[in-house]
Amino acid sequence: MVSISLYMGCLFSQGFFVIVFAVYFPPRQDAKEPIGVCPVSNVLEVENLNVEFNMDGKYYHAVRDVSFYIEPGEVLGLVGESGCGKSVTSLALVRLLTKTARISGSVRYNGRDLLTLSDSQMRQIRGDEISMIFQEPMTSLNPVYKIGSQISETLLLHRNISAREAFAQSVEMLKKVGIPRPDDIMDEYPHQLSGGMRQRIMIAIAMACNPQLLIADEPTTALDVTIQAQILELMKGIGSEFGTSTLLITHDLGVVAEMCNRVAVMYAGEVVEQGKVDDIFYNPQHPYTRGLLNAIPKIDAESKSRLQPIEGNVPSITRMPRACRFAPRCVHVMDRCKVEPPPLFETDDEHVARCWLNEVKEA
Ligand SMILES: Nc1ncnc2c1ncn2[C@@H]1O[C@H](COP(=O)(O)OP(=O)(O)OP(=O)(O)O)[C@@H](O)[C@H]1O
Ligand code: SF4
Ligand SMILES: [Mg+2]
Repeated sequence: MVSISLYMGCLFSQGFFVIVFAVYFPPRQDAKEPIGVCPVSNVLEVENLNVEFNMDGKYYHAVRDVSFYIEPGEVLGLVGESGCGKSVTSLALVRLLTKTARISGSVRYNGRDLLTLSDSQMRQIRGDEISMIFQEPMTSLNPVYKIGSQISETLLLHRNISAREAFAQSVEMLKKVGIPRPDDIMDEYPHQLSGGMRQRIMIAIAMACNPQLLIADEPTTALDVTIQAQILELMKGIGSEFGTSTLLITHDLGVVAEMCNRVAVMYAGEVVEQGKVDDIFYNPQHPYTRGLLNAIPKIDAESKSRLQPIEGNVPSITRMPRACRFAPRCVHVMDRCKVEPPPLFETDDEHVARCWLNEVKEA
């Protein structure tokens, strides 16, 4: 396993990349089937997810042909630079995007395609079977309601229990997430709590109904390193206790190494590489992934060299390169890369990369 000490607290604060940790079946170049086709037993199966936004009457892709799946109890990491499409992907899964978004593909949760359910069916699933934790808890917690009523509300909405029982279960949940004086905290407002406490409350709300799938979008980025480590430990403990499957979005490769089974790296709305964590860290096959890894400071005696961030920026969705989206920043770019979009090549067992250089290797 990759040593987290090498990676913690480095790249991510610079907003360098988007990585998705997920279990993938490596797609083949010649295959017509979408990548990520998975066994029925998977909790989540995303195939060819596309999200376009309408801007001034024209649609632009923010997410293109994204496929992955998550097995029961697995943590899939999604990583990438700011603006790569991590949040848009996660919001599309639970249909929380604005009306200007057009979504296509399929998002099968326990065999049901979420994209075809009615709004009321989706409301039933959200917060119950599928929960979300967002980066900044103050945007998710309602400032005018007490903590107790915000946790109880979730239970009352999805469980046929009395208010008294919901209160008791809420207190238990607060204990589980390590909140001291839970009875008192039930009676307090979000602004009375620290950032770390609020994030614990968010976890309590998200886990209150024992969800099968947790989507956590940068759940610890706003916290200092010590609190971040505590919250991750907490998420890990509760996740394994409840058997929850998790889609973990993070900028932090250290978090990926610590928490995830597999990784998907996103760039400009596409998954450009996916594989097991060790393969991604020790045998990256896409120039973008290598660039991200090079930007991580190494804590060893010989690494006195400076960080090597990838030059350039993620393109805006209105100005995407027409073939390989990474071409303008790639040190290996070839003529072909500017005219032919690379498919995902299988480079190893459960390891794929969207780069023409891998076709050369395959041949
Ligand atoms: N409602 C919208 N309308 C138009 N474009 C949007 C909308 N929401 C997001 N985008 C664009 O989609 C792209 C992906 O955005 P997204 O929020 O998913 O990035 P991200 O990877 O989550 O970044 P960050 O790490 O900063 O959170 C960006 O170019 C963003 O500007
Ligand atoms: S396809 Fe070409 S431009 Fe794109 S990452 Fe590979 S070498 Fe670089
Ligand atoms: Mg985001």
